[in-house]
Amino acid sequence: MPTSKAPATTAPVEDARAGLRAELADLTAYVPSMPEGIEVKLDANEAPPVEPELREIVARAMAAVPLEVYPDPRAERLRAAISARTGAPPGDLLVGTGSDEVISLIVNAFAQPRRKNTQAVVLAPTPSFVMYRVTARAHGVKPVELPLDAAWDLDAKTMSRAIEMMSPNVVFIASPNNPTGNVVSRDRLEAVLEQAKGAFVVVDEAYVDYAPGSVRELRARHANLGVLRTLSKVGLAALRVGWLEADAGLVGEIDKGRQPFNVSATSQLGAAAALEEGYDALSRGVARVREARDALARELDALEGFEVTPSDANFLWVRTAAPAGDVYEHLVREGVLVRSFHARGGRLAHQLRVTIGRPEDNARLLDALSRAPR
Ligand SMILES: Cc1ncc(COP(=O)(O)O)c(C=O)c1O
Repeated sequence: MPTSKAPATTAPVEDARAGLRAELADLTAYVPSMPEGIEVKLDANEAPPVEPELREIVARAMAAVPLEVYPDPRAERLRAAISARTGAPPGDLLVGTGSDEVISLIVNAFAQPRRKNTQAVVLAPTPSFVMYRVTARAHGVKPVELPLDAAWDLDAKTMSRAIEMMSPNVVFIASPNNPTGNVVSRDRLEAVLEQAKGAFVVVDEAYVDYAPGSVRELRARHANLGVLRTLSKVGLAALRVGWLEADAGLVGEIDKGRQPFNVSATSQLGAAAALEEGYDALSRGVARVREARDALARELDALEGFEVTPSDANFLWVRTAAPAGDVYEHLVREGVLVRSFHARGGRLAHQLRVTIGRPEDNARLLDALSRAPR
């Protein structure tokens, strides 16, 4: 390997830096926290390992991928498979490398400042998925975050005032919400859809497989509704496959900013096979996690010092009597990693997010929590 010599001067780099988007100065690259000695990882809302049958179906599909040709730029087979499972017409679907990429494509497309705004605006509740804010910032779009109410539901009044005042381009609402695990109330969502008629309202259903149902049927009454989905939370995070279902005309516009070969052929065909042939195995995995979630919620609620918000996702939102940071550190010492939000302060100072893992992981968490600060 040739060794690279240090440049004679850093002036050209400094000059080039002057052209960087100013917002980048406030952002930090995503580096997951991985303290030493962790044996049980319950911090990333991943699913437990999938059944061997599903693994084999995906592996077989991937092994048949011709390596010398580009992937299908239109992801026809994958969109057909998604359509068959969800009822979404293929023309209403845009597939991305995870829903993260789709969020980015949406923000990129809806970047025209509206009315008297000098910047396009992305509105989202807080606490919620951080990528709405980060993606907006990285695209030079203004993120506006609105606190959820005391029950972690949409605050109808605040949302209504903000929509009126801010003329958002896009409203992102995660339901079930990350990190709180609950679905938003249907009437409040419909009120937002009604009021934000001039905006694209995206309901992010990354965790919908663990919930009673999707809001996608609301598209019949609200043409400005988009629904975001992913395979990441049901055991296929490695494939990086997510999608948007929305009005075909809007999807067509957003699609213009997509890289032609954005989803790899192995991911397209692996995901298509999982949906076509492996769906029963996938669904069995989801059912197991739901059961484990309800059992763990009951057990945690019974532990003194912990209170669980009812969850429709594959994780629990746990209120700790002791500062969440202390409970988090205790769990790390016991080899268990969860997500703590204590650094954000306020009402998050006593909240942890705990992913549902394999039965032995959940048992290990409970055992470690029985010795945690109260
Ligand atoms: C609400 C929500 N949306 C989207 C994502 C991103 O999913 P993907 O893996 O499809 O990019 C996550 C992942 O944590 C999430 O919690």
